[in-house]
Amino acid sequence: MPFLSLLRLLLLLLLLSLLRLSLSRPPKGVLIDCGATAGSIIDNREWLPDTGFISTGTAKNLTTPDLVPILSTVRSFPLSGKARRKFCYDVPVYRTGKYLIRTTYFYGGINGNDLPPVFDQIVDGTVWSVVNTTEDYLGGMSSYYEGVFVAAGKTISVCLAANGYTDSDPFISALEFVLLGNSLYNSTDFKSYGLSLVARHSFGYNGEIIRYPDDQFDRYWEPFGDDIPTVASVRNVSVSGFWNLPPSKIFQTELTVGQPELMEIQWPPASLPNSTYFIALYFADDRDSSSEFPRVFNVSINGVPYFHNLNVLRAGVSVFANLWPLSGPTKITLSPAAGSTLGPLINAGEVFNVLLLGGRTVTRDVIALEKVKKSFQNPPLDWNGDPCLPRQYSWTRVTCSEGSRIRVIALNLSSMGLSGSLSPSIANLTALTEIGLGNNNLSGSLPDLSPLQRLEILHLEGNELSGEIPPSLGNIDSLREM
Ligand SMILES: *[C@@H]1O[C@H](CO)[C@@H](O)[C@H](O)[C@H]1NC(C)=O
Ligand SMILES: *[C@@H]1O[C@H](CO)[C@@H](O)[C@H](O)[C@H]1NC(C)=O
Ligand SMILES: *[C@@H]1O[C@H](CO)[C@@H](O)[C@H](O)[C@H]1NC(C)=O
Ligand SMILES: *[C@@H]1O[C@H](CO)[C@@H](O)[C@H](O)[C@H]1NC(C)=O
Ligand SMILES: *[C@@H]1O[C@H](CO)[C@@H](O)[C@H](O)[C@H]1NC(C)=O
Ligand SMILES: *[C@@H]1O[C@H](CO)[C@@H](O)[C@H](O)[C@H]1NC(C)=O
Ligand SMILES: *[C@@H]1O[C@H](CO)[C@@H](O)[C@H](O)[C@H]1NC(C)=O
Ligand SMILES: *[C@@H]1O[C@H](CO)[C@@H](O)[C@H](O)[C@H]1NC(C)=O
Ligand SMILES: *[C@@H]1O[C@H](CO)[C@@H](O)[C@H](O)[C@H]1NC(C)=O
Repeated sequence: MPFLSLLRLLLLLLLLSLLRLSLSRPPKGVLIDCGATAGSIIDNREWLPDTGFISTGTAKNLTTPDLVPILSTVRSFPLSGKARRKFCYDVPVYRTGKYLIRTTYFYGGINGNDLPPVFDQIVDGTVWSVVNTTEDYLGGMSSYYEGVFVAAGKTISVCLAANGYTDSDPFISALEFVLLGNSLYNSTDFKSYGLSLVARHSFGYNGEIIRYPDDQFDRYWEPFGDDIPTVASVRNVSVSGFWNLPPSKIFQTELTVGQPELMEIQWPPASLPNSTYFIALYFADDRDSSSEFPRVFNVSINGVPYFHNLNVLRAGVSVFANLWPLSGPTKITLSPAAGSTLGPLINAGEVFNVLLLGGRTVTRDVIALEKVKKSFQNPPLDWNGDPCLPRQYSWTRVTCSEGSRIRVIALNLSSMGLSGSLSPSIANLTALTEIGLGNNNLSGSLPDLSPLQRLEILHLEGNELSGEIPPSLGNIDSLREM
């Protein structure tokens, strides 16, 4: 008997320690320290240097003293005139995996200008947001951006792009990918949309940012201590329980009013551009439910009813809306229902801008064009990320089709000073109608182009290509200029 119970105790201890292990296991994903020459372990999590994920840009060390290690290096990308150019990280992912992507920026004066440049960031074929770190930088802080995207392929590209308002070299300090659980934000149709974080706050809290290990996915919950609880068509709102798995720490503080009276908060703090948003609000009561003292209230946003008769219990509840239109300042009003004897309360909130995804170029064309790129010794510098999308950032001299199935229809690389060879994979770009490679320095043999049945124009003159013009070219009926 004593033996058995000892065994049982041991088993129990083992189970407990396994449990603790799994609870404290760092989130799955990739942490990239941009511009670093070596990896590092910080808070038990491994950061990788970025050299395996990008083939362009320059690593730089900041001279600002006392920086946390991740901010002390950046990768920066040379601006060339007013050209719209993108510079991309390609990060391997699980296909259909849902990822939280976080980009972090700290300028540290690396370009010589007093103020940091303003530029765009792109995920696959979608413009994610403008990166304007000016205000944070003047306040001595780094800036971060967070989004949620589902992988459509085996890699996700995250690009920085120069725009009309970019006045010096774009740069980045860190790039993080965290694999999210299936249930997180699952009311969003991630085939068509991505989420770009606007605000995530723990209400009534004034400590350090809440993150891993409190948040198992290392989301950042910033303090929001509005000390003036000011006074604040039901569209697709539902109660979800806690599919979004918020950290329990956010329920330790709240904004509330003592009496059963109206409570208003201006949240999120910033004025919002006219768009549609995903909003999740989190509530949990700190006492057991009691019919004697119910805490029931209505929630409205900018005067539009959001949820009726919300009965907040100890178990907690979150209320979310998928595509909620907002514009300008936002006011959240909690109004006690008739007969409620306690004032309303709120613990936390998240707001994301809902981004309509721009799509991706047809995978077969992407693979073929990547091989063509590899066969050149000096491909154009902006040939990275998605070849066609976003449209304003398509690859130099690459023309793509319109519509939903996006294909490469023309390559006009004449007089680009290209050397190297021409990959046979060019024949897999079956939507091509034009190939212009004239006046370059390409050598090697001309591949079989006969699968290109839509080819109309082919220029190869002024190269060192060897061998005969394959007779199979004669089988392309559409070919009219050579
Ligand atoms: C940055 O600092 C690291 C470590 O001190 C050094 O190895 C690296 O060469 C430096 N990089 C540049 C671009 O100066
Ligand atoms: C960037 O932010 C600063 C400070 O908020 C603002 O003054 C500036 O106009 C912004 N720049 C661009 C290009 O949006
Ligand atoms: C989201 O996840 C929860 C928990 O796994 C599940 O009950 C719910 O049906 C899911 N919702 C959608 C829209 O997939
Ligand atoms: C609510 O969502 C459903 C399906 O997602 C959609 O058909 C409907 O138009 C939406 N209603 C409003 C008011 O947005
Ligand atoms: C926001 O944009 C929509 C569509 O573009 C428009 O119908 C609506 O009036 C705008 N709302 C505000 C407050 O500007
Ligand atoms: C709460 O919403 C219900 C349903 O729309 C409404 O009848 C009630 O008057 C509202 N209560 C308050 C205090 O606004
Ligand atoms: C290719 O580009 C060159 C230079 O931009 C231009 O002169 C030429 O007309 C283009 N050719 C085709 C077939 O579009
Ligand atoms: C063309 O694509 C097919 C699959 O789509 C692949 O098997 C083949 O190897 C490709 N050809 C070249 C020359 O890359
Ligand atoms: C073309 O390549 C040859 C050797 O491969 C080299 O000598 C020559 O300088 C190159 N010409 C140009 C214009 O790049």
